[in-house]
Amino acid sequence: MRKYNFSAGPSELPIEVLKEVQDELLSYKNNGFSIMEISHRSAYYEEINNQAIADVKELYGIGDDYDVVFMQGGATLQFSLLAMNFAVNNKPCDYIDTDVWTSKAYTEATLAGINARIVASSKDDKYSYIPKVELNDDSSYTYICHNNTVHGTQYKTLPNSKSPLIIDASSDFFSKKLDFSNIGVLYGGVQKNAGISGFACLIIRKDMLERSKDKKMPMMFNYNTHAENNSLYNTPPTFAIYIFAKIMTWLKAKGGLDVINKLNEEKAKYLYDLIDNSSFYKTYVNNDDRSLMNVCFTTGNLELDTKFWQEAAKNHGMLGLKGHKKLGGLRASIYNSAYLNKVKILGEYMKEFERANR
Ligand SMILES: Cc1ncc(COP(=O)(O)O)c(C=O)c1O
Repeated sequence: MRKYNFSAGPSELPIEVLKEVQDELLSYKNNGFSIMEISHRSAYYEEINNQAIADVKELYGIGDDYDVVFMQGGATLQFSLLAMNFAVNNKPCDYIDTDVWTSKAYTEATLAGINARIVASSKDDKYSYIPKVELNDDSSYTYICHNNTVHGTQYKTLPNSKSPLIIDASSDFFSKKLDFSNIGVLYGGVQKNAGISGFACLIIRKDMLERSKDKKMPMMFNYNTHAENNSLYNTPPTFAIYIFAKIMTWLKAKGGLDVINKLNEEKAKYLYDLIDNSSFYKTYVNNDDRSLMNVCFTTGNLELDTKFWQEAAKNHGMLGLKGHKKLGGLRASIYNSAYLNKVKILGEYMKEFERANR
């Protein structure tokens, strides 16, 4: 029997997609081979690659002024590459600090010799909110992490900035439509909301690519190499991209990102209402900045928190409810593939645990 998986990532995949993959594992479309066993230059693979790229654009409603690139190394490799590719001579690169994932991106940029600076932070209140800022400086770009996986905060509107936004969307990728009017790059590892580990998907505005066209750097580090070669410059992680393509098809069949967003709102509201109406559970996240993807909460007691996630796993088949090691507490990750009924089963367990332990 499958468990109820609330892991922050890699995380649960839609059961429909897993079953399709299972069906095709030995013989892809009755061709007598699996997709893992054939060339990335074959027509079979090229069709998957091209469909995935077209679906990314269709789901976000963007046109040919953006390129879609698939790259190995996860989101973490992009921290330095983004800075190396998109820093403009003499213009600083601005980072809005919401803890772990932005500070890693900032550190990697500085290690790459880039002039990076922190222009806003929510450190003063333990990263429990999203800084609200208006940035009018002429910087290279403004970098944010759209959904803060560790603390459970999420941008509801994009910050106003004069320079183009570079957005890490690793933990809320393809969960809702976004206003692309000032997005230079939207990217993320896909293993939380859109597939399995193995690569990052980057949606890059073409004028941003001009910035690194003539920069001297290894070919594999330059996004132009990958954009110009349709992400087929070298052998890509074909199986991971095949699953990603299936998730794109699944999202479209569900009705697209507006429908998915409504479902995500409904699931998160159910859990936040339960927490708000209880005197046993609490969340420290600012009301307006609560993540729809990662619901962070606590009983306020370390022993009870530990008992909660241990009993959830042992007696109820619920996995991944332990909070991030930096923060402690509890965290329920309810990405696109989590259905409301699964979230309600968690809710019933929360009520039962409260009755037994308050
Ligand atoms: C918001 C965010 N950014 C970046 C990363 C790092 O992703 P990767 O492991 O693909 O490098 C994570 C991983 O949890 C994340 O949550």
